[in-house]
Amino acid sequence: MSKQHLAFSYVKYLINAKGPHGTHSPFVFSFINDVLKDKREFYAFKEIENLRDELHNDHSEIKITDFGAGSLHNKSNTRKISELAKNAGRSKKHGELLFRIANYFELNNVLELGTSLGLGTSYLAKAREKSQIITIEGCPAINKQAKINFKKIGLTNVNSYVGNFDYILDDVLNTHHKFDLIFVDGNHRKDPTLNYFHLLKKHIHSNSLIIFDDIHWSKEMTEAWNEIKADSTVKVSMDLFQFGLVFFMKEVKEKQEFTLRF
Ligand SMILES: C[S@@+](CC[C@H](N)C(=O)[O-])C[C@H]1O[C@@H](n2cnc3c(N)ncnc32)[C@H](O)[C@@H]1O
Repeated sequence: MSKQHLAFSYVKYLINAKGPHGTHSPFVFSFINDVLKDKREFYAFKEIENLRDELHNDHSEIKITDFGAGSLHNKSNTRKISELAKNAGRSKKHGELLFRIANYFELNNVLELGTSLGLGTSYLAKAREKSQIITIEGCPAINKQAKINFKKIGLTNVNSYVGNFDYILDDVLNTHHKFDLIFVDGNHRKDPTLNYFHLLKKHIHSNSLIIFDDIHWSKEMTEAWNEIKADSTVKVSMDLFQFGLVFFMKEVKEKQEFTLRF
């Protein structure tokens, strides 16, 4: 990560980001008002945030296998659960957004790349009871802890896999139906991100949504994001600074790109 790149990208984002009245698309207008600005507190939010509090107070150590772009905060191979929860855990604001997105678009078949302790997974899984979430994590010890967390909050619709995306993603994709929602949140580097995108594109349908996390985390990730949104299959893209959303709706004739305030 370059702090300079992040700061520069954020200023650019603030200048360009629009609210509901800066867009002429009814689809995006509704998305802003009904999803981004929805302030409702769903029951599940409290449950997941209680789990987060518990993890913040868990100072036991696990042996971790560092994947992808690695961690900025600690290079040793043991990590406290509390540290992982603080540094790699989905924020409350973006977790709630994942929940609202899955709910609003009624997305039932969900794939997540990068489970970590399962906070993001939990928001996705609690959004819709009849959904099925598949989540992949490279580090066996983190996956084990995530499974404990899923049990704690009574999740029965999560299927978790352990392995490096580079080796197991193809197999996981081939044994499942097309996905309604894919959340790409691991290995935040340009080439892997683009490789995953090209693989994932074969497992989506016209109403699928792919969300990329940390699209401005580094210059490389911004480059990856720019290529993804320029891809001919992408019809609508939304840059929310942390998340980049891409939609593939066949009925949309002209590509539309939005930078939205969130
Ligand atoms: C930012 S965390 C995921 C956070 C989680 N999605 C959430 O919302 O709470 C990224 C995770 O991806 C895993 N990861 C990174 N690169 C990977 C790879 N190539 N294969 C498998 N897992 C990977 C890391 O071990 C880490 O736990």
